[in-house]
Amino acid sequence: MTNVALKAIDLEVIRGGKTVLSGMSFEVKQGEVFALLGGNGAGKSTTLLTFMGLLCPNAGVAEVLGHSVADAPEAVRSRIAYLPENSALYEHLTALENLTYFLSLSHERPDPGTLNAALDEVSLPVDSRYKSLKSYSKGMRQKVAIALALLRDTPVLLLDEPTSGLDPAAVEDFHRIIERLAEKGVTILMVTHDLYGACQVASRVGLLRFGQLVDKFEADASGSVDIERIRDLFLQQKAS
Ligand SMILES: Nc1ncnc2c1ncn2[C@@H]1O[C@H](COP(=O)(O)OP(=O)(O)OP(=O)(O)O)[C@@H](O)[C@H]1O
Ligand SMILES: [Mg+2]
Repeated sequence: MTNVALKAIDLEVIRGGKTVLSGMSFEVKQGEVFALLGGNGAGKSTTLLTFMGLLCPNAGVAEVLGHSVADAPEAVRSRIAYLPENSALYEHLTALENLTYFLSLSHERPDPGTLNAALDEVSLPVDSRYKSLKSYSKGMRQKVAIALALLRDTPVLLLDEPTSGLDPAAVEDFHRIIERLAEKGVTILMVTHDLYGACQVASRVGLLRFGQLVDKFEADASGSVDIERIRDLFLQQKAS
């Protein structure tokens, strides 16, 4: 059995007549956290949408646990939880109602104890769980979206700017969640603008520029990624 969870080979994706990913190749092993960094418009969200099977490759291959996104989109979607850039939660529903509704779409009916355990995990205050999301801050909404992704209990998790809008304490909580999931064998591909957070939580970091993966960085023996080198490269790219 392969231990590669996500594989891209010479991936090309065209959107609106423009090539937004080209010649992209990388692998993420099972239980690994891979962070994709890049400026606005570099193609980070496009990469996740492609692995979700929501965009079809125009050339090359994208595979999830051996299933091609082009040939087996249902098999792919059942193995992936996806936290989009802008969560699609309902403002007029409470946190618990949102979780119940979205899980029912995949025929899942967890009991209230399970839902509350997921909200405990993301530290959403208990008294707010019965209030509609209209009264939530951005960070609180993000916590509900993360809880929803956790409840899907899938082997692969795709996260689009998961810490956007979270305060520093919530970011730390989130990193601990990611580490626990990876220890359990969940594969995580996250895209982010948070260079420091990415280097803290990921075992490998990829740098994306104009739809091409221009560099990959591995954690050293101590488990840390060379943050200064990535920052210099990132800033050089932005200036060029
Ligand atoms: N629906 C769309 N139709 C056509 N082009 C699109 C569409 N969505 C995104 N693009 C283009 O694809 C390219 C990559 O966009 P993408 O959203 O993947 O970037 P990103 O790295 O996620 O950026 P950001 O950091 O701003 O979220 C951009 O040039 C963007 O203009
Ligand atoms: Mg994006």
